[in-house]
Amino acid sequence: MAYDSKHTEILTPEEGYNITKDEYKKYWPHLNTFYSIDFNRFVPRVRKDYRVLDLWAWDWRMYEQLKKINPDDYVACDCAKELLSKHPWRIKKVVCNLEKDWPFEDESFDLLSAFFLLEHIEDIEHFFSEAYRILKNNGQLIIGHFLQRRLFMWSINWRRFKIEQFPHTIEDLENQAKEIWFKTWVMPLRDVCDNKLITWHLLVCEKI
Ligand SMILES: C[S@@+](CC[C@H](N)C(=O)[O-])C[C@H]1O[C@@H](n2cnc3c(N)ncnc32)[C@H](O)[C@@H]1O
Repeated sequence: MAYDSKHTEILTPEEGYNITKDEYKKYWPHLNTFYSIDFNRFVPRVRKDYRVLDLWAWDWRMYEQLKKINPDDYVACDCAKELLSKHPWRIKKVVCNLEKDWPFEDESFDLLSAFFLLEHIEDIEHFFSEAYRILKNNGQLIIGHFLQRRLFMWSINWRRFKIEQFPHTIEDLENQAKEIWFKTWVMPLRDVCDNKLITWHLLVCEKI
């Protein structure tokens, strides 16, 4: 078990997010501004046999956005089994740790979505090369990313803890994606209260 300098427990995403399974929704609102965007504008027009993989998807907010494009298949995956079991929609659910090899076939998806997850991934080179492997040609990976200055403190049933993160900047992510041969676009998104402040980035990576 790891601790920070103030003796707060630092948990792995799997341990930490499973503990949040009945409480996560209370903590939702701080990400709401990002989800008010219509992401359909950033995904390509639907092709035949269009398959979507939602990475770290448990909270179904991306599902509500992406179901509008009417995919033929929608798969949700997350390392936190108990959290994923709360996903209310009847879709395929796969429990897997994305730091390891991904249990999906080569060139099998048209669209991958990864929102507020990359801060939990240590090996981003492995992440982008697995994403590239399972995407079909011209398929897209869309990433929502923000960098928190301090780790978020969770307090659940009298247990206070933080969840391990890695401080990748949007430039780190874009450079790594380019090294894997993705074509990339970055869009900075401003805070609703302070128009000068860039709080989020959207990174779109296309397999060429
Ligand atoms: C901050 S939550 C984001 C959830 C949601 N996309 C949102 O915007 O509220 C991060 C999610 O990533 C999952 N996750 C973190 N590390 C993971 C890993 N190595 N493999 C699979 N899922 C992971 C967590 O279980 C959690 O559901």
